Amino acid sequence: MGVTTAPMIPAAIILAAGLGTRMRSAQPKVLHALAGRPMIRHLIGACENVFGRIVVVVGPDMPALEDTVAPREVVVQRERLGTGHAALQAAPLLGGHQGDVAVLYGDNPLISAATLQALVAARQSAGLALLAMRPADPARYGRVVLDEKSEVARIVEWADATAEERAIGLCNAGVICAPAQDLFRWLGAIGNNNAKREYYLTDVIQQARAEGKRVVAVEAPEAELRGINSRAELAQAEAEVQRGLREAAMAGGVTMLAPDTVHFCHDTKLGADVVLEPNIFFGPGVSVEDGVTIRAFSHLEGCMVKRGAVIGPYARLRPGSVIEPHAHVGNFVELKATTLGAGAKANHLSYLGDATIGAGANIGAGTITCNYDGVAKHRTEIGEGAFIGSDTALVAPVKIGARALVAAGSVITQDVPDDALAIARGRQSVKPGRGFKGKGKR
Ligand code: UD1
Ligand code: MG
Repeated sequence: MGVTTAPMIPAAIILAAGLGTRMRSAQPKVLHALAGRPMIRHLIGACENVFGRIVVVVGPDMPALEDTVAPREVVVQRERLGTGHAALQAAPLLGGHQGDVAVLYGDNPLISAATLQALVAARQSAGLALLAMRPADPARYGRVVLDEKSEVARIVEWADATAEERAIGLCNAGVICAPAQDLFRWLGAIGNNNAKREYYLTDVIQQARAEGKRVVAVEAPEAELRGINSRAELAQAEAEVQRGLREAAMAGGVTMLAPDTVHFCHDTKLGADVVLEPNIFFGPGVSVEDGVTIRAFSHLEGCMVKRGAVIGPYARLRPGSVIEPHAHVGNFVELKATTLGAGAKANHLSYLGDATIGAGANIGAGTITCNYDGVAKHRTEIGEGAFIGSDTALVAPVKIGARALVAAGSVITQDVPDDALAIARGRQSVKPGRGFKGKGKR
């Protein structure tokens, strides 16, 4: 009878203790966002599909990073002595792990779960597996030197490479995978005799080879493996992520008139038969139901747009806004924490904040909810079918009844009952013969 063993689920170490000097930023590099989400969270998302345990190596002064990766385990690298030294900090947590451990870099956030699976699979037939790519511009990536069997002989860092080695197109992506016990033994043995006086993770390859192990490279596209070290590389990665989000939107039934001009957030949800005109920005937390049209130059965040609604052009929907089915929000209209009822219309030049607007209501051009008295925010309620005339100021807290009519130019400070007419403006007076007669002749 054979012995059955439980499948060994690999673990991951994500290195994120570096300062990211090339970003010239006060915040840790891996907290810079791609499609509105810190880059390290993109990576954690992919890792969670493959690894049973994730340990993040952070610097000693990075509370915001610790919060961002919680509840994953964290170890602190007190001195930044290089990627090899950083990985070794996870030894107390993963040294006894039964199975493989992969080491990833937090600034390499676009790797797909499928590529990580391929890496883990390749390790089964080698002592160590790593991810490699052939970037259009190999720049300062470490170069992967192959032997005559096309196995990996070593990785040479750009700073240490000869001109001949720099001519190699195959680059180290910065992800390796090996059995836990081997990995930590090799990490403990590497030195820092190199251009940067750092303990390089990449030196474990020579350790593995010295023990007679095979080291194999799994190639994947640059789009997934690019590292982010500067703002320019951040922008390139953002473009990559946006391309993916647009393709997914179109595959899901969204028409985009000018896809390159629409900016999504990682969590943007779009239904079928949504039409997006050019130049639209989606911040976090937007969901758009079927059949919605969003017209050009609109900015949406934290809002829900229900089926058949029409937004824009030039609309701004801020957090907490709900646009009920078939409602219209037109140009230069801003909504904040406001529900616009089914079929209601606010078509021109309005600020609607902290308001509930009933179905079928019509909000005239220039209507403003005066929701803030300098200390607190107050609500405005507008009943179903109400008609708010142009240039109305609604001084909250205030309630406008169903089917009420508010005359244009009113400043409404008191509640208006259902079906009533409210006029609150200076009376017009007309003086016959007092018209304009030219300069100084009045
Ligand atoms: C590294 C690789 C290089 C590879 C490239 C891919 C090494 C020595 N070099 O270079 O071969 O082509 O990534 O993008 O590994 N970190 C720590 N502690 C440290 C130093 C770094 O946690 O002491 C972290 C950083 O936060 C970062 C990651 O390790 O997330 C990689 O460090 P980075 O300085 O960006 O290495 P590269 O120069 O890009
Ligand atoms: Mg890097």
